[in-house]
Amino acid sequence: MSIKIIGTGSYLPEKVMTNFDLEKMVETSDEWIRTRTGIESRHLASQEQAASDLAFEAASRALTMAKTAADELDVIVVATVTPDHFFPSTGCILQRKLGAHKAFCFDLEAACSGLLYSMETAKSLLAANPRYRKALIVGAEKLSSITDWSDRNTCVLFGDGASALVLAKDDEPESEGSICSIQLHSDGNYAEILQIPAGGSRKPVSEETLAGREHFIRMAGRDVFKLAVNGMLSAGKDVMAEAGVEAESLRWMISHQANSRIINAVADRLALPEEKVFINLDHCGNTSSASIGICLDELNRSGRLSKGDYILVTAFGGGLTWGAALLRWQQQQF
Ligand code: UT7
Repeated sequence: MSIKIIGTGSYLPEKVMTNFDLEKMVETSDEWIRTRTGIESRHLASQEQAASDLAFEAASRALTMAKTAADELDVIVVATVTPDHFFPSTGCILQRKLGAHKAFCFDLEAACSGLLYSMETAKSLLAANPRYRKALIVGAEKLSSITDWSDRNTCVLFGDGASALVLAKDDEPESEGSICSIQLHSDGNYAEILQIPAGGSRKPVSEETLAGREHFIRMAGRDVFKLAVNGMLSAGKDVMAEAGVEAESLRWMISHQANSRIINAVADRLALPEEKVFINLDHCGNTSSASIGICLDELNRSGRLSKGDYILVTAFGGGLTWGAALLRWQQQQF
């Protein structure tokens, strides 16, 4: 028995905001944003679009590629920090949009590590229960709705988007799966360095919290930077060691797209050449839980993934949460 990724999908909203647009909003420059982060532009959802609308587009594309009808799905996991509502879950709203009536659905909150957490969750569910055959995992974010557009420390970093993967169980005893190894970690001791201070039960909405702009993302960027490099590096090494795969055997490294300096620091320490390091944050920005799946889908649809390729995936985000997965691509070239 094995679990395979049989479809990928992603969606970026139409509207594009460039660094030059941001220059008109806060005291920043295209040069600062490009050199400090690698970002040149990001996509922004329209006012009418919520996370489930972005999720629907990405999920539909993944299901089409997987030749899977929505009512074949047994489970839907939506990773998001920008759900349509506190409840019902965005997973349930997506279920309705897709017509996936058989699936049970829920949201998973692990910030930027959300898709990796969802992968481990869905893989474990499929492996554990003989009745479950197919799962849809989605990372969907409308980060523009929780971005403080007057804070130059954060507003230049984020973008909106969604990605989705279809996972299926193969009962063949000798079949090879797509997920060789996953390791996930959390450390709540660092909860405050990346958070939204108000709006939850700790600090419900009040005039005071609104005036203090406490419903938006706050981040101690430099602290997060160091922890991100160390966390993704050690998790990456661990999954490769567990699978018995050396860094030189990797075809790609896909890291959460927060900052090209973070990604390159991890790649340098693994002695990975530039051509094996996938970066698309120049045109996406940081899309939190959606970012890794957008990378996978971009690589897949442009024919840059082949059966048998080893892909190291690493992620890092608020919580703190971090982890890595070693994938072995099982799809024939798309
Ligand atoms: O997705 C979740 C995980 N998130 C991350 O992994 C993000 C991790 N952190 C980072 O990517 C980086 O720390 C940032 C991109 C957020 C910041 O880069 P940095 O190199 O760490 O800059 P800094 O925060 O140390 O700030 C350097 C200077 C400061 O000015 P002073 O104090 O040296 O005078 C900032 O005020 O840059 C200033 N600055 C800006 N200047 C122009 C901060 N933001 C901007 C800006 N434009 N947008």
